[in-house]
Amino acid sequence: MDLVLPDKAHDESRQGEALMLETKADKNGRKLYIESYGCAMNFSDSEIVASILLDNGFETTNDYTIADAIFINTCSIRENAEVRVRNRLKEFKVAKQRNPGMVVGVLGCMAERLKAKFLEEEKLVDLVVGPDAYRDLPNLIEQADGGQRSVNVLLSREETYADINPVRLNTNGINAFVSIMRGCDNMCSFCVVPFTRGRERSRDAISIVKECTDLFNEGYREVTLLGQNVDSYKWTPLPALSEGEGSAEQVSESLPFGEVGGVVNFANLLEMVAQINPDLRVRFSTSHPKDITDEVLYTMKKYDNICKYIHLPVQSGNTRVLDIMNRTYTREWYMNRIDAIRRIMPGCAVSTDVITGFCTETEEEHAETLSMMDYVKYDFAYMFMYSERPGTLAAKRYADDIPEDVKARRLNEVIAKQREHAHLRLLAKIGTVQKVLIEGYSKKSANDYCGRSDENSMVIFPVDERYKPGQYVNVLAERCTTATLMGVIVD
Ligand code: SAH
Ligand code: SF4
Ligand code: F3S
Repeated sequence: MDLVLPDKAHDESRQGEALMLETKADKNGRKLYIESYGCAMNFSDSEIVASILLDNGFETTNDYTIADAIFINTCSIRENAEVRVRNRLKEFKVAKQRNPGMVVGVLGCMAERLKAKFLEEEKLVDLVVGPDAYRDLPNLIEQADGGQRSVNVLLSREETYADINPVRLNTNGINAFVSIMRGCDNMCSFCVVPFTRGRERSRDAISIVKECTDLFNEGYREVTLLGQNVDSYKWTPLPALSEGEGSAEQVSESLPFGEVGGVVNFANLLEMVAQINPDLRVRFSTSHPKDITDEVLYTMKKYDNICKYIHLPVQSGNTRVLDIMNRTYTREWYMNRIDAIRRIMPGCAVSTDVITGFCTETEEEHAETLSMMDYVKYDFAYMFMYSERPGTLAAKRYADDIPEDVKARRLNEVIAKQREHAHLRLLAKIGTVQKVLIEGYSKKSANDYCGRSDENSMVIFPVDERYKPGQYVNVLAERCTTATLMGVIVD
């Protein structure tokens, strides 16, 4: 049982979304269908895959039953994420039986984790392609057409797809994800990501700023910079390039503070993106408590268009559990980072991830997670029961010894507390004026707009024809539910 509260940068409730792709001129008449599961980085990768395949003449469909190629971009983070994909493959099997020429490909983290085993286990799968091998897709599809089932799960130390212009999928034309790095070097003991996404590498800062600038020029008004650990972003301009794109000179010119000193860190990158235009909102995810610096916090404070919202996963409030999770910080360290956020940006929203029932966790240790929640009073949280993942450090070292019913009870306690805190946080905003970027009509009523506040609260308010999606409005918050603010536009 997982509970996922809404947040777009991290929204697993979008799992299984079918993606409608745009079409390009030189079609080969073959229809492509892509479905994505997991985190924002997977959704962002599907936009890269779409770009590569559209360039190879595919056109698209949102009906998999008539597709010539089905791709499923998968997640391995918890067992139930994998179960969901297996069930979906059963449905694709029926379509493939009807159309034996159809190519079925598995992409993403499950492909990387299971490799060739996938072909043995799932007879209908033709291609298994890991997250660093998407440039090879056209070639692999050709092999599949020739009847050869194949696997490319090579991980790379360099691949960032920096030069590929993602095709925006299911877009509202206002919010976009921009990947700034790939992989993760942290080795949290519960986590499969370092095995499925490989070593951490940062994308060229110039290509990031260019992508964000292009998005702004196309009318987008919010970018979310994505990475598993954005605070360790680090890019060095190539010394060999003394002139032109990617050179130290060009980076220096685009920096607000002159010289780069050879390295662009995350605070520098944030500043570069914030300077594109004051009307472009900048968000980012995910920050790691061991790495988030005061420099990043001061950069956030300095720019009104960097949203005052930080996702800072705590996982557990107990130092011993954090230690065996290999998170490399203590309860006190985490609290100190929260104190720094509150000191530098009072009012900044904070969200978190919590795991209940990690190996050997006692009731007292679980109580420390609850007391950490009381200390921070998170605005949002993603809460999960521990799910053992094969091959991880925890799976090798520690028994998964907390019974499922105890994990579930602890999770319910965490969820109940979080509901209370989220509600408290919204109640405190009633009577205040929030700057909201209109994202579109509310799902429930065409008479209402919805959008997000700077601090990432969902806000609903009656449509005023003077304002359109993509514009900013000031909304007086009048009432709230446990997850949403409701109000009216004020001038
Ligand atoms: N890079 C991010 C997290 C990415 S995974 C970070 O370090 O914060 C998203 C969340 O899934 C994690 O924060 C964690 O709470 C949860 N998660 C990861 N592995 C898990 C597992 N084996 N069981 C349960 N939850 C897990
Ligand atoms: Fe997983 Fe930890 Fe890396 Fe996050 S920082 S992706 S939890 S290993
Ligand atoms: Fe993301 Fe799931 Fe992979 S959370 S990095 S898609 S394991």
